[in-house]
Amino acid sequence: MEKNTFYITTPIYYPSDKLHIGHAYCTVATDAIARYKRLQGCDVLFLTGTDEHGQKIEDKAKAAGVTPKEFVDRIVAGEKGVLDLWKLMNISNDRFIRTTDDYHVKAIQRIFRKMHDKGDIYKGKYVGKYCKPCESFWTETQLVDGKCPDCGGEVQDAEEEAYFFRLSKYADRVQHLLEDTDFLEPRSRVHEMINNFIKPGLEDLCVSRTSFTWGIPVDFDPGHVVYVWVDALFNYVTALGYENDKYDDYEKYWPGVNIVGKEIVRFHSIIWPAMLMSMEMPLPKKVYGHGWLLLDGGKMSKSKGNVVDPYQLADRYGVDALRFFLLRTFPFGSDGTFSNELLISTINTDLANDLGNLVSRTTAMIVKYFGGTLPAEREAGTEDAALIEVGSALRKKYAEQMDKFQLQNGIAEVFRLLSRANKYIDETAPWVLSRDETKRARLASIMYNLLEACRISAVLLTPIMPETCEKILDRIGAPAAARTWESVAAWGAMPACAAVSAGEALFPRIDAKKELEALEALNAPSAPAVEPVLPDVSIDEFAKCDMRVCKVLKCEAVKKSEKLLCFTLDDGSGTPRQILSGIHKFYEPETLVGKTVVAILNLPARKMMGKESNGMLLSAVREENGEEKLHLLMLDDSVPAGYRLC
Ligand code: MSP
Repeated sequence: MEKNTFYITTPIYYPSDKLHIGHAYCTVATDAIARYKRLQGCDVLFLTGTDEHGQKIEDKAKAAGVTPKEFVDRIVAGEKGVLDLWKLMNISNDRFIRTTDDYHVKAIQRIFRKMHDKGDIYKGKYVGKYCKPCESFWTETQLVDGKCPDCGGEVQDAEEEAYFFRLSKYADRVQHLLEDTDFLEPRSRVHEMINNFIKPGLEDLCVSRTSFTWGIPVDFDPGHVVYVWVDALFNYVTALGYENDKYDDYEKYWPGVNIVGKEIVRFHSIIWPAMLMSMEMPLPKKVYGHGWLLLDGGKMSKSKGNVVDPYQLADRYGVDALRFFLLRTFPFGSDGTFSNELLISTINTDLANDLGNLVSRTTAMIVKYFGGTLPAEREAGTEDAALIEVGSALRKKYAEQMDKFQLQNGIAEVFRLLSRANKYIDETAPWVLSRDETKRARLASIMYNLLEACRISAVLLTPIMPETCEKILDRIGAPAAARTWESVAAWGAMPACAAVSAGEALFPRIDAKKELEALEALNAPSAPAVEPVLPDVSIDEFAKCDMRVCKVLKCEAVKKSEKLLCFTLDDGSGTPRQILSGIHKFYEPETLVGKTVVAILNLPARKMMGKESNGMLLSAVREENGEEKLHLLMLDDSVPAGYRLC
């Protein structure tokens, strides 16, 4: 019997910065596919996670004055971090892997050793070019105008002792896999892989580094850490329990489907299968390479400062509207350009007009004409057939598209039914029938058909907008049996005497002009936040403030307080001074020990959380886009404690 399991993964994201709408796009799409499969009754395992090792993270942590683990912990599990974002976006992942998880680390060491024992990983010397932002090594011939072929950035010469994976050994098998099977989709990506990477010749791949330490140690050769792609790619199986005892799902769920962005198709369709071949493991059922969400014609990136914040959009329009927009608008396999205009017009046209209106009008008419509960009598009419035909054929057409991950086409099929139903209202003109007592049966039939259109659409849109669709199904009084995949195979699963409730608009229409102005103001560069200069003070008044250079002797978080840090300072007097400061949001206490700061000492003592504060630390502060930014004033460490500021 064929297994009814379905395993699907997103890439694991680098927690080097906060994630943006481009990352959310990939995860929302994968979530919709997972939910679609669950709707069909599959036993789904949906995995996402974070790829936490590598030089970039090591460097960033250093710059932030924290350990790499502290750095990634904050981005993954901190406020508005990766976990918070997926919660906000209503992502239904069953598992979340972090490559720093102990079970993964141990499993990678075993996997690395196995490939080494087999002779597929060997020690050699690495000479090449390294692109730091992409964490990729390139040969001279792969560079474009001497720059990284992925990001166009500068590359550095690199030479060191390293382990290599015999990628060349698997070149023929990988080529066959790409050319003769539908392992990689869309098909256009296959040509890209063959022409750009396989035809020029696959060279063995560097899989260990000695130039940084933030990685999984090669346990049989201290000093080497596993280079990030071996560590990253095998997450898809370690998260199932491969080579570890944490889980026991490998046999049940592997192989699965890997959804990835186009720039990492190379790693997933060449290196990943080659390594699995070496390990004699089954290959993924499919690797699907989706396109990028562009902004102003380019890729969004934090370093370019052109990212769109999913929190802001979800907050203004609701999570479902945002999920819908991402999946309805951009063909999953190609690039698409994000714009606020497009977002607002999609919400107005599809959600407020087509879907929202149909549900509101249908339920309002049933309340008005029948007190909310449909009577049992029926009378068919000539207008019915066209609507019923579209509705009855919908599931099959929708599934054909969703099975190919053509989410936007699947949604478009549903919208054909919604448009047809809105047209049906115009054709049948229920408001005219409602004035004629003899037409009650006909009116009831029309209402029933409209409810059916709402029901089938809502069930099939559930993977895209889970909360809204549940609301719709509640509102039209659909029982559990009328919400299943089976129930939308044919017309007529609504109970004859359905009871509905009218309610507020599901998606209020947005005034596009006003909203665009509001968004622009909200996202305007923060220059206007500079506060006006305060009224003059006399020099004598200023001189009364005793501001001194202090050294941080100790710094600890105050128990039960989210904000407060308790500083013990050397103010030059010989007696340690205690000052409390509400800056925990901006600094981890241990990073401040030893720093040279400035405090105003002659403020009256204050008690906070039962502790006394004798003065105040000085910081540079301002508000940017509604968010407080703060930098504690720090001086060169050569300035001794006790010096006065004047
Ligand atoms: N850590 C690697 C993946 C390892 S998977 C074994 C990585 N991380 S990433 O954070 O840089 O990117 C993760 C995914 O986000 C990629 O698939 C990438 O394509 C996707 N996106 C990042 N920006 C994007 C857009 N602007 N649009 C669409 N997807 C985008 O690569």
